[in-house]
Amino acid sequence: MAPILEIKDIWVRYSGLPVIQGVSFEVNPGETVCVVGANGAGKSTILRAIMGAQPAYKGRILLEGKNIQTFSTEKIVRQGITYVPEEKMLFGPMTVEENLLIGAYIIDDDARKRENLDYVYNLFPKLKERRIQLANTLSGGEQQMVAIGRGLMSNPKILMLDEPSLGLAPVLVDEVLDTVRRLKEAKMTILLVEQNVRETLEISDVGYVIQTGKVVTKGKASDLLQSEDIQKAFLGM
Ligand SMILES: Nc1ncnc2c1ncn2[C@@H]1O[C@H](COP(=O)(O)OP(=O)(O)O)[C@@H](O)[C@H]1O
Ligand SMILES: [Mg+2]
Repeated sequence: MAPILEIKDIWVRYSGLPVIQGVSFEVNPGETVCVVGANGAGKSTILRAIMGAQPAYKGRILLEGKNIQTFSTEKIVRQGITYVPEEKMLFGPMTVEENLLIGAYIIDDDARKRENLDYVYNLFPKLKERRIQLANTLSGGEQQMVAIGRGLMSNPKILMLDEPSLGLAPVLVDEVLDTVRRLKEAKMTILLVEQNVRETLEISDVGYVIQTGKVVTKGKASDLLQSEDIQKAFLGM
């Protein structure tokens, strides 16, 4: 099967400084792929490059074999890529359901919006229970669930999550990663970017480790978890 997303030797810079230096990876249908690395390694920049927000000046980005680099961010969303940013960007004074519906802005058909809402509620019954609760009264973990649910409302081919566990207490980290695990079981194709190396590798199929804008190690997530270098560098072993 052809990859859904292919990143080929991309270079990305901020004011002339190349912070991503020749990164390549691919995400196949139904796979959960993670990019892990320390704060400042360039994880968010890779996702911004894919969304066209911080374009790559070299290399190629292909969605189902088609180059999307000249597309606007909105067109990229319409083509099937959803990005849940680090800052969840919920609308605090609006309800859970209103926030979810915003994610379906590219869909005109009300019946399909309703179907997608049912899909999200089915996946996350907790959100259904809280559908009329204001977003700013939810816990951090619940807000993350809304942000992910909102991302699902546009029927993405691939869901990109930028550090969903960032800033959450350890017990909520588990809850959020469990949410990701549920998506994976629902056969969603996921690109997950995280600093929480162990937990993230545990739920991923394939992992890429980046350091200062370069992939330094890649492989099956289960192999990476066993690797001595990774254990020394990231797992405190
Ligand atoms: N808007 C920006 N302008 C200049 N430098 C930036 C900007 N955003 C990020 N950087 C720098 O690019 C590098 C990678 O950042 P980022 O992709 O946010 O890393 P990560 O998501 O892995 O923490 C860091 O050195 C960061 O300081
Ligand atoms: Mg980041």
